[in-house]
Amino acid sequence: MLKSSNKPSILLVCLGNICRSPLAEAVARQRCVEAGLDVELASCGTGHWHVGKGADPRMLRAAAAAGYDLSQHRARQVRANDFVIYDWVLAMDSANLEDLTVLRGGHGASPELFLPWAGVGSPRDFPDPYFGDVDGFREAVALAEQGVDGLIARLRANRNG
Ligand code: 4NP
Repeated sequence: MLKSSNKPSILLVCLGNICRSPLAEAVARQRCVEAGLDVELASCGTGHWHVGKGADPRMLRAAAAAGYDLSQHRARQVRANDFVIYDWVLAMDSANLEDLTVLRGGHGASPELFLPWAGVGSPRDFPDPYFGDVDGFREAVALAEQGVDGLIARLRANRNG
């Protein structure tokens, strides 16, 4: 499959595709609409364990409390072709980035870390809330919002420059 349009396209990638990357996708989707930016957004995981499943219920609740709807999300695993389809393939953490770099095998977009790509200085790795408590999910929402603010600033700069 080839890239389907000229609008910028971003694939957000974590491990399971049930917490961080679907959250970042939902936040980005909503804020890009609000910002009037036409962007193709998707998310996936490097792992296969949760393929076809919805977002983690704890993530769903924390996102919903902040106004983001993850109810339609279904997890999928990254494919080699994704590097050709998407302009940017953005990993949530360094382990995801290493896995993506191996899978890419030298063709298409070079994967990068989401938070530094979006201009967030610290942390570089988006902490995985999966094995933690409810606070981690709330913090994930705030960090995703920070990252998406940077993503929008970068897309605006690209559009204008
Ligand atoms: P995510 O979180 O990568 O942000 O979706 C995780 C989801 C599932 C697992 C680990 C992290 N797991 O080990 O199943």
